Amino acid sequence: MSDSHWWRNGVIYQIYPRSFADSNGDGIGDLNGITGKLDYLAELGVDAIWLSPINPSPDVDFGYDVADYYAVDPKYGSMADFDRLLEEAHRRNIHVILDLVLNHTSDQHEWFIQSRSSKDNPYRSWYIWRDGRKPGSTPNNWASIFGGRGWVFDSRTGQWYYHMFAPQQPDLNWRHEPVRKEMMNIFKFWLDKGVDGFRLDVFNEYFKDDQFRDNPWKLGIRRFDRQQHVYDADGPEMMGVVEEIRSILDRYPERYAVGETYLATPERAVEYTGDSRLHAAFDFSLLQSKWSAQSFMQVVQRWDAMNIGDHWPNNVMNNHDNPRSATRFGRGEDDERLKVATAFLLTIRGTPFLYQGEEIGMRDIHLKCSEMQDPVGKKYCPAHRGRDGCRSPMQWDASEFSGFSRAKPWIKVHPNHVLRNVENQKQDAQSLFHFYKDILRLRKNSPALQEGMFQPITFEPKRLVAYLRQNETETILVALNFGRRKVRLALGYELANREWELLLSSQQRAEVGVKDQWLPLSGEEACIMKARN
Ligand code: NOJ
Ligand code: CA
Repeated sequence: MSDSHWWRNGVIYQIYPRSFADSNGDGIGDLNGITGKLDYLAELGVDAIWLSPINPSPDVDFGYDVADYYAVDPKYGSMADFDRLLEEAHRRNIHVILDLVLNHTSDQHEWFIQSRSSKDNPYRSWYIWRDGRKPGSTPNNWASIFGGRGWVFDSRTGQWYYHMFAPQQPDLNWRHEPVRKEMMNIFKFWLDKGVDGFRLDVFNEYFKDDQFRDNPWKLGIRRFDRQQHVYDADGPEMMGVVEEIRSILDRYPERYAVGETYLATPERAVEYTGDSRLHAAFDFSLLQSKWSAQSFMQVVQRWDAMNIGDHWPNNVMNNHDNPRSATRFGRGEDDERLKVATAFLLTIRGTPFLYQGEEIGMRDIHLKCSEMQDPVGKKYCPAHRGRDGCRSPMQWDASEFSGFSRAKPWIKVHPNHVLRNVENQKQDAQSLFHFYKDILRLRKNSPALQEGMFQPITFEPKRLVAYLRQNETETILVALNFGRRKVRLALGYELANREWELLLSSQQRAEVGVKDQWLPLSGEEACIMKARN
C-alpha cells in the first residue's frame, strides 16, 4: 500500500437520498438537494459520500430493486444533475461512491421481464430458474431474508425463480457469462463518468451452491434464521469476481470498493479484501454491539488484529438498515453517551463510515404498523418494525418539515426536530455536531489518528476504554468512560511521566490533570490527548 489514500485516511458519509434534502418540493429527497448541502458536508469535514441507490427503481425496497443500471431515477433528477453533483463534490474534495446492487434486479427490469416470458428467451438464464422437486414444491429449502421461502412459482413457464430478498427482487445468475460481463460493464460505465468508488450491496450472495443443496437446519424463530446459510451464500467463485472487479478499478486512479458482507463473520469479510481484492468489507459487530466498554473493546481488538498487511479496517456504527446508535445508546435527548461512542468510532484505526443525521444524534421515528413503508416492517409489524425508523428526513431546521422539504415528506419527520436540528446544533459549541466536526478536524491533522498503530491500555472492563494511537511522530491517548460515575485511569509509570496536551474533551475540562499515575475522568467523558514529549 502506498502512503496516502483518501479512502484510508478519510471519512465516508452515507446519504440515503430519499431522505436527505428535497429540492423540488415533491416530498422525496433528490440529487439537487444533495448538491445544495455539499457545503454543509465540507464544513462537517467528510472526505466522501456514499449514495444509497439512485438508479430507476419501483421502490419495493427503496432503490435496492434496480430497473436500469445505466440511468438515474427521474424522482432523484437527471443524469445532468448527477454530473453536476459529481463535479461540485469534487470541487470541494469530496469523493462520490455509488451503491451497486448486483445480486438481484427489480422484477420490472427489462431483463427479468424477458426472462420470465418464456423458457427459450435469451434472458432466461440471466436469473435462477429451477424445476420444483415435485409438483407444488420448491426446488430446495432456501428462504428469503424478508420472510417465507426464497422461491416464487411462475405459472407461465411452470418453473420457480429464486429471490434472497423480496419476491420483486429476483437474484441474477452470476454463473451465466453474459451476466458477469454486463455487471463489469456497469462498473466501467460509472467509473468512466468519474465516480470514485462503489459500495457493493450483499456482494457475497452473488454465488450460491451450483448443486442447489438444502441448507442445514438449526434453531431459530423465523424460517430464515432456522437455517445455516452454507449453500445460499459465499460461493467460492466470488474470489475470482472480486479480483476481476479490483482489476477494473485499478485501471483508474484511486478508486475504491467496499463490500457489504452479508451474514458473514469478520474473518470471512477480511478474506474478501486486500491489494488484489476489495479495498474493504464491512464487519457489523460494532453496529450490533451493546453499550459496554468491554464489548466495544473486544470488537475493535478482534477487527484491528485481523486487518494487517494489505487489509485495512473500516468501522461503522449506523446505516440505513438498523436502529440508529442514538436510539440504541442515547437516553432520552441526552447526547453524552453518543459523544463517547463517536470519539471511539473516529479514533480507532480504520476508515469510519457515518450515516446521515448521526452527527446531530437523530433518533429513530416511531411508526404505526399501518404507516410502515419498508417491506420488512410491512410483513412483520408489530413483531418486527422494519427499517423505517432510521430513514426519516434529515433534520435541517425547526420548520414544519424540518427544512428537508416544503411539502409533506414521504415518511414522517421526527417530532424532536424542533429542537434537534442542524441549525440549532451549529450555533451551540457544545453540540454533538461540533463534537463530530472537532474530531474530524483532529483526524485530518493527525497522522497517528489516521494511520498510527492501535494499542489498548489496560482497562477497567465494565466502564473504561483507553488506547494509544501512535506513529513515529505522534502519540495520542484516548480515554473513554462508558459509565455515569467518575473513574480514574491508571496510566502506568511511562505514560504518567509524559506531558499531555488536551486536544478534546466531551465534558469541557480545562486541562488533562494527571495526578501521580492517575487520569481522572468524569461520568461519560471522552477525552483525547496528545503527548508533548
Ligand atoms: C442490503 C441493503 O443495505 C438493504 O437495504 C437491502 O434491503 C438489501 N441489501 C437488498 O438489496
Ligand atoms: Ca424531490
